[in-house]
Amino acid sequence: MSTETKQFKAMRVEERQEGDKLAYSSSIVTRELDSLPEGEVLVKVQYSSLNYKDALSASGNKGVTRNYPHTPGIDAAGIVQSSSVDTYAAGDAVIITGYDLGMNTDGGFAEYVRVPAAWLVRLPDGLSAYESMVLGTAGLTAALCVDKLLKAGLTPDAGAVLVTGATGGVGSVAVALLAQLGFAVTAATGKAEAADFLRSLGATEIIDRQELLEENPRPLLKERWAGVVDVVGGPVLWNAVKALRYGGSVALCGLVGSPSLDASVFPFILRGVNLLGVDSVNVPQPLKSQMWQRLATDWKLTQLDALAQTVALEELESKLNGLLAGKGKGRMVLAL
Ligand SMILES: NC(=O)c1ccc[n+]([C@@H]2O[C@H](COP(=O)([O-])OP(=O)(O)OC[C@H]3O[C@@H](n4cnc5c(N)ncnc54)[C@H](OP(=O)(O)O)[C@@H]3O)[C@@H](O)[C@H]2O)c1
Repeated sequence: MSTETKQFKAMRVEERQEGDKLAYSSSIVTRELDSLPEGEVLVKVQYSSLNYKDALSASGNKGVTRNYPHTPGIDAAGIVQSSSVDTYAAGDAVIITGYDLGMNTDGGFAEYVRVPAAWLVRLPDGLSAYESMVLGTAGLTAALCVDKLLKAGLTPDAGAVLVTGATGGVGSVAVALLAQLGFAVTAATGKAEAADFLRSLGATEIIDRQELLEENPRPLLKERWAGVVDVVGGPVLWNAVKALRYGGSVALCGLVGSPSLDASVFPFILRGVNLLGVDSVNVPQPLKSQMWQRLATDWKLTQLDALAQTVALEELESKLNGLLAGKGKGRMVLAL
């Protein structure tokens, strides 16, 4: 490998002591390939994407990243450069999401990553590397949520499906996917100005996020939704559960509002509703591959371009700060 390709650009988040507090700042640096962690496969990253978890990692959230300096980026799509295992060879197009990428292993906000082969999924036919990162972890998670709801028996004729945090990464893909599958989608958002965007993705009803935050001591609310995709948690989640139709289900994957849940058993024992947890990080490989296959074929979104904007390495810091402040809209793809 030439001297040129031994070096690569990466985002680096540094930690420093400021008085009695730790502070974090990031910059774009040049690194040596040798400085990457040990791993079976070296991948040249073509695209990454921005997720809420990256914003947490870049801002010093120790639940996501313990040690700094660190390169965030929980997603990457690219081409295998070298491999010490038989299952992958130089030139293979791959996607990496989840596991420890971008958490405590240097991640996709860099021109190269080195990872265990078990973290890779082959880029499916029908999806470009760019399109795979328009989806990224957010899209995979939205697909896993929809898959859980369908497996729990949800059908389009059962009634409307609510998506919370609808303009965010997971939310916007969930709105588009559910609408494409024939569901009537209610989008809950804190951004009144994003109504046109949500309608363009296929939402038929838009409600103010505030409506779902209202405290109501009643154990059950009027039956409203056949299914819910929730990224918010806390009171929003609980109000959604209490307003499920008989036998309905919530697929829960996020905590942007709160990690807590002040709940009762009533919706479960009086309406037979289901609360379904969704994890995209350690999801078993067969299901993960199946989801990517579906996203490349029968679940391929016609709205992929409308969902995404492309950002450069130099723009990462400001875009991640926007995500932390709840200002994200759709998906952001990092072009490397
Ligand atoms: N379980 C998993 O494997 C998995 C995978 C991916 C993501 N997640 C989690 O899912 C959540 C969403 O991730 P993301 O990447 O889609 O994030 P994102 O792009 O930042 O979107 C989050 C959206 O939630 C809404 N929101 C923000 N702050 C809120 C608040 N305080 N209360 C209510 N709504 C708020 C905003 O949308 P509106 O303005 O439209 O309301 C925001 O755009 C995060 O908690 C993330 O950690 C989990």
